[in-house]
Amino acid sequence: MTCRLDAAVIPPQPSQSPGDAAPLPAALDWIADDLAALRSAGLERPHRVRSGRQGREVDLDGQTLLNFGSNDYLGYAGDVRLTKAASKAACAEGFGAGASPLVSGHSQAHELLERALADLLAVDAALTFPSGFAANTATIAALAGPDDFLASDARNHASIIDGCRLSRGRVGIYPHRDMAALDAILSQAGSARRRLIVTDTVFSMDGTVAPLADLCELARKHRAILMVDEAHATGVFGARGSGLVEETGCADGVHVRVGTLSKALAAAGGFVAGHADMIHWLRHKARAWIFSTAHPPAVAAAATRAIALVSQEPHRRRELLVRAADFRQTLLQNGLDVAGATTQIVPIVVGAARDAVAVSARLAEAGLFVPAIRPPSVPAGKSLVRVSLSWHHTAADLDRLAGTITSILRDRAES
Ligand SMILES: Cc1ncc(COP(=O)(O)O)c(C=O)c1O
Repeated sequence: MTCRLDAAVIPPQPSQSPGDAAPLPAALDWIADDLAALRSAGLERPHRVRSGRQGREVDLDGQTLLNFGSNDYLGYAGDVRLTKAASKAACAEGFGAGASPLVSGHSQAHELLERALADLLAVDAALTFPSGFAANTATIAALAGPDDFLASDARNHASIIDGCRLSRGRVGIYPHRDMAALDAILSQAGSARRRLIVTDTVFSMDGTVAPLADLCELARKHRAILMVDEAHATGVFGARGSGLVEETGCADGVHVRVGTLSKALAAAGGFVAGHADMIHWLRHKARAWIFSTAHPPAVAAAATRAIALVSQEPHRRRELLVRAADFRQTLLQNGLDVAGATTQIVPIVVGAARDAVAVSARLAEAGLFVPAIRPPSVPAGKSLVRVSLSWHHTAADLDRLAGTITSILRDRAES
């Protein structure tokens, strides 16, 4: 299928660079200083436009690059089977959802998706949200309130951090995967009404995994709710592809499973899954579900198709993880630091934000898209280039990337 956007050629923006723009209104003139400070600290963010479908390659601002910068782990983002499922649903149900799920936005396509998710995760029920970000903020703020204690891993995703803040409960941040520290902070939760432990299962910035068995044990010991975010694990880990909870055999000890439809499932939206009563209760309490329009039925149908593909094509996740292990091994043999990553996300720590940007730019010159990750996504001084692997990558692609990155870092160390 060859398709083109109506506006296939995007005209240049009227003001391409900040210097060309009209002066800011007085009430906003501080923004110019703020932007200048970001620029001089190497923290200014690029504004890129992607053209066409992405897969093994991506066209960014007119440059075709090997794509190591997308969360399309199973290679379904450009898959025509998802496009067809979406078109069929759009034809049957129209495009817009029209209202929040609570009112009239919950279509048959959403109902099928929630049932498919519950089946995949082998739980009673699931609830879908317009984004994974909304699923986390809404679920955390529903489960915990001002009288409660929340324990959160220091490297949790921003949506978990914001959900904890939104709850207005007391938040204890424990060092990344440090179970002794978690035990200690839970012991200090005092008279909190509820205790909630919340963690990513696969950490998005460093490709490490949460120690789920230990977390379950601590949750039991401290009578805490255990909520996990499987955003980067759904579709990738577990015999059925449901995530790290399945892979580690921890389903009985995890009370709340959140995930996103936007990464390996190549659609959009988020979900929470678990006990039927909890899901029904969330329909009364999760504000981003109650007060936000459901995502379009076509998106839900594409996600449902992707879930079917996860079941039908288990070789994709297996091959992805084998290639990821080989790739990490090659980098380690080349003397690079992959910061303890054990998944399809492979960070290469560079240090200063500016240096990470420079390494990413050199990789782009060599035809490889590997984004620089800088504060606030990672701590200051720990900026990195992050490789996100996809099933589409060949062994030759990964050898090329490993060789190029190693020689760029060696050049920099020698200069
Ligand atoms: C760990 C984690 N949780 C949640 C999200 C948010 O998901 P979504 O992109 O669907 O809003 C992300 C996305 O970057 C993530 O990495």
